[in-house]
Amino acid sequence: MNRRFFLQSTSAILATQILSIAKPSRTHSSPMAIVNPTLEAALPLGDRATAKGLLYGAAATARKIQQDSAFAAVVARECKLLVAENDLKWRALRPTPEQFDFTRGDALAAFAQAHNLRFRGHTCVWHNALPDWFEQVVTHQNAEQFLTDHIRTVVGHYAGKMHSWDVVNEAIDPVGEGIDGLRDTPWHRFLGADYIDIAFHTAAAADPNALLVLNDYDLDYAIPRDAAKREAILRLLQGLVARGVPVHALGMQAHLRASEPNFDPMILRDFLRQVADLGLKILITELDVVDQDLPRALHTRDLAVANVYQTYLDTVLQEPAVIAVLTWGLSDRYTWLAGFRPRSDGAAPRPLPLDALLHRKPAWSAIASAFDQAPSRPHL
Ligand code: G3I
Repeated sequence: MNRRFFLQSTSAILATQILSIAKPSRTHSSPMAIVNPTLEAALPLGDRATAKGLLYGAAATARKIQQDSAFAAVVARECKLLVAENDLKWRALRPTPEQFDFTRGDALAAFAQAHNLRFRGHTCVWHNALPDWFEQVVTHQNAEQFLTDHIRTVVGHYAGKMHSWDVVNEAIDPVGEGIDGLRDTPWHRFLGADYIDIAFHTAAAADPNALLVLNDYDLDYAIPRDAAKREAILRLLQGLVARGVPVHALGMQAHLRASEPNFDPMILRDFLRQVADLGLKILITELDVVDQDLPRALHTRDLAVANVYQTYLDTVLQEPAVIAVLTWGLSDRYTWLAGFRPRSDGAAPRPLPLDALLHRKPAWSAIASAFDQAPSRPHL
């Protein structure tokens, strides 16, 4: 579906939504719900992706799944994979240096199993979401032990159940104080660049069946910062592959921005091809669209956000090595952007496929259209 046609069809969908006769819903504090029954009944995103040999899923937390049954139901309906938004980070898993708490991770794993969803771990090694005790306890001397114990225990706990793990998250920072393009993190300070090799080897030994992913952000746009990050992560991946480190895929977070004009499909396609030529797969791991700088009007924002989804996915899904598209959340009811990228006018952000009332939006239609138009992959 080309972009002009997409916009016409989406505005048609939107027009139907606005004109369709619908009982106003007052179940959630939000503008009156205008629901298009045809759109609501359409084949879910996960089924559309599967039809093309792709995987679609979303991030969620155990707490939201357990406390909001309507939200849990749409996750089960729309997704074929569930990724732990926060429940498999150090902060959630490690109440003390000696203890592991798998309560929330296990709840997500159980939900995924009950609904026949693949399960994805995020993340073994990151410089954020570390427990409060970390700074006082972990040192140069014991860092490798803490790193390998953590990965061995956590990846081992879920061995055989995981589609993939973000083994290392956000390791590069070519423009910051990074060294050879690597971010200055506690792990890098304690162990040097080797922490990445150690992490992947340990994860592969703990779960030989999981796809092991190097995950990062700001790889998407034709701007100097993203170009530098693309170059740095390609260099890092080339080194890892050359050393026989068991990295299987690049994770592109893809936190996109509706206000960013510098998107060049050919530049992105060329980068994806270079990653694929290393023998690696590619996952779009945290897709959403920041609408912070868009006009307040819902239909204007929804169409602009949908157009970003369509343009980006039409580009990346042309690369056969792209095997999964995961949105960072499923509904505007729960998005990290509400707290981290609030709009100056105080309006709730609308970055995701479903609105806060769990109804499908133009963004949903854009993702559905991108899956329907995508070239088929060998089935998973
Ligand atoms: O659960 C506590 C709550 O008990 C407490 O009252 C509250 C106030 O401090 O904090 C709550 O924890 C918050 C947690 O999200 C759950 O909502 C943390 O403060 C907050 O830092 C945490 O933010 C998460 C962030 O990563 C940092 O871990 C976001 O939800 C999550 O969406 C975001 O996800 C990251 C990916 O992991 C990596 N890529 C970027 C992406 C967006 O930042």
